[in-house]
Amino acid sequence: MPVAIVIGGSAGIGQAASIELARRGFDVVVTYRSHPEGAAEAVAAVEALGRRAVALPLDLDDADAFPGFAERVRQALAETWRATTFQVLVHNAGVGEAARLGEITDEHYERLQRVLLKGPVFLTQALEPLLADGGSVVFTTSSSTKPAGVTPGYGVYAAMKGGLVVLVRYLAKELAARGIRVNSVSPGPTRTRLGGDAFDRFPELIAPLAARAALGRIGEPEDVGAVIAFLASDESRWITGQDLEASGGYDL
Ligand SMILES: NC(=O)c1ccc[n+]([C@@H]2O[C@H](COP(=O)([O-])OP(=O)(O)OC[C@H]3O[C@@H](n4cnc5c(N)ncnc54)[C@H](OP(=O)(O)O)[C@@H]3O)[C@@H](O)[C@H]2O)c1
Repeated sequence: MPVAIVIGGSAGIGQAASIELARRGFDVVVTYRSHPEGAAEAVAAVEALGRRAVALPLDLDDADAFPGFAERVRQALAETWRATTFQVLVHNAGVGEAARLGEITDEHYERLQRVLLKGPVFLTQALEPLLADGGSVVFTTSSSTKPAGVTPGYGVYAAMKGGLVVLVRYLAKELAARGIRVNSVSPGPTRTRLGGDAFDRFPELIAPLAARAALGRIGEPEDVGAVIAFLASDESRWITGQDLEASGGYDL
């Protein structure tokens, strides 16, 4: 049974991706940081589809903890799947924080750098020995990395996500020797809790964003989760090193 690990599977896009992966026959390890109940919901939804699931805690802000996390993954694979490897790694966890020039603090910069860029780099390194040959790695980037998606205040966030877009190409080349594909999905505005529940707190933000999408609405987590599952699965076997925008044609 193929096993997918979804980093940041306790909410929004990651929770939806876990379910879409289960629909395509994957068992799932979901990670959570502050919402174990969200991870439990993902586990229950995956199990309702007849697949197995395990939830593990992980804070991407703490790279020193990654070797211990890799050990917990190794144990979970052995105990739940009698396996030594997993097949899919989804790097989806993220935080959205804005700061315009003049407001950017060391703390803002460092936090986004640690969670959005350093964390994925070192976590990939820690988990690579457990990733099976022929597997797939999928990152969640952002349409804010594209020229049309530029929104004042999101420069540091977008720069870190842009770093991932470049990293994807290098990892794709390095891991190709093992038949492992590496891609990313770049969501446009999507109805999740990102930005401290911004869409719940400021629902008036939604209509203008929807108007900028060719398809006339903002994304739902399932819209992006399905693309992650596609990039994880064999259906995309000839795609590697790519960043695929899933935004309903944002700012086309
Ligand atoms: N929503 C959008 O409009 C949009 C657009 C472009 C890109 N994205 C990207 O999509 C990805 C998923 O975000 P979302 O929109 O689904 O937001 P979300 O609903 O807030 O979910 C974020 C997920 O990341 C986890 N997470 C946050 N900080 C973490 C940390 N330090 N360590 C480990 N896990 C952490 C959260 O875990 P807990 O809840 O358990 O803490 C949660 O599972 C992010 O990378 C985001 O940048 C979103």
